[in-house]
Amino acid sequence: MKTELSIIILAAGQGTRMKSAIPKVLHKISGFEMLYYSILEAQKLSDDITVVLYHQADLVQKTMEKYFTNISYHIQDHQNFPGTGGAVMGIVPKHSKTLVLNGDMPLIEASELVNLVSDAKLTMSVLNLKNANGYGRVVVENGAVKKIVEQKDCNENELAINIANAGIYCFDTEFLLANLGELTNNNNQKEYYITDLVEMAIKQNLQVVPVEVSEENFKGVNSKIDLANAEVIHQNRIKERFMANGVIMRLPETIYIESSVKIEGESVLENGVALLGNTKIINSHIKANSVVENSVLENSDIGPMARIRPDSHLVDTHVGNFVEIKKGKLTGVKAGHLSYLGDCTIDAGSNIGAGTITCNYDGKKKYQTIIGKNVFVGSDTQLVAPLNIPDDVMIAAGTTVTKDPQSGDLVLNRTPQKSIAKFFYKFFGKNNVTKR
Ligand code: UD1
Ligand code: CA
Repeated sequence: MKTELSIIILAAGQGTRMKSAIPKVLHKISGFEMLYYSILEAQKLSDDITVVLYHQADLVQKTMEKYFTNISYHIQDHQNFPGTGGAVMGIVPKHSKTLVLNGDMPLIEASELVNLVSDAKLTMSVLNLKNANGYGRVVVENGAVKKIVEQKDCNENELAINIANAGIYCFDTEFLLANLGELTNNNNQKEYYITDLVEMAIKQNLQVVPVEVSEENFKGVNSKIDLANAEVIHQNRIKERFMANGVIMRLPETIYIESSVKIEGESVLENGVALLGNTKIINSHIKANSVVENSVLENSDIGPMARIRPDSHLVDTHVGNFVEIKKGKLTGVKAGHLSYLGDCTIDAGSNIGAGTITCNYDGKKKYQTIIGKNVFVGSDTQLVAPLNIPDDVMIAAGTTVTKDPQSGDLVLNRTPQKSIAKFFYKFFGKNNVTKR
């Protein structure tokens, strides 16, 4: 396949209906831009991929270059040749077949696209719909396409047709190159339509083969409503894949998992969990409403309502509610409640009391806090970094630690407690107390 098929991905449109400053194909689904998914699937089928750009071309190209090499970018002459047909002009595909995809179809899968590759000069994707509103209409007779008309150019009878053009085509490359120059903009939108090539093939008595495709996979995203709906479908696919592999999910419809996440072993995700970026979860339990970003969790449990920020690595660790960890390496640690642990390494057997804060930032730079084995950090402790706390240290509750202690130390810097006897009664009066 890779040596016979070229792929062109149309992504030049502005996407007016998105009502956004961001070009349509850069809107994200499950953490990645829509165009990313089109290219990813295309790469499974072809080594000759051209992406057609125009609106904010630089931004789109730079964004895709973060993920892909070996992709060609072609700038459409949009002023002179607008439209899906104009988009393909000027490209010379390397291989004998050319598949034309849209960059705004994030749910398409290579395994279904292969059905469009045939010996015919032109194969096109069609949908059999209850209501084809919004699509170009296709007339099919005896298994061949007889006519194609854009919705905006339809008469009343044509509007009632329920076979729709799904917008993806596979051309014989010679046919494509021989006929592209013949396109005109003689239509209601004054655009060069790729669909006119279908008409040309029919006029030349070439068979145009319709291939019925799934409505779900070939859904084009044109608005933010479409975007949200496509993401729901995409999320379901991700979650079903993990559940099939043994992950337990409570109320999966409330869970959000980006495409780059990996989950292994007998892991449990409770409701409202979000797993973002390059997160990897191994044999761990993520309790309700916790968020993990770009981090690795092994044999650990976190939450409910814990937040693990990028570049953290938790092994054999228990993290409780309202604990925030950033760039934290915790191995065999307990941090049960209400803490901020940033830029830190904490070793086995150490217990972090409620309200512990690593003061990692002095307003200019970030500093490290290193905590050894079996350290007991009392509640409401401030650890002013840089700090190196060796093994076997006890820190009393309410201490602000600014200097490195020695192994075996108790560290405390509380203000000595004093009591003023009977002050309460002098202030409130002995008999009025209950009236407060
Ligand atoms: C197109 C088809 C229609 C089909 C529908 C399926 C045409 C004329 N019509 O309509 O029959 O039912 O897809 O979704 O082809 N693009 C460019 N350059 C342009 C214009 C568009 O690259 O000048 C790109 C867009 O970025 C998009 C794709 O082509 O990725 C489709 O364009 P869009 O405007 O969405 O086409 P439709 O009007 O939906
Ligand atoms: Ca204090």
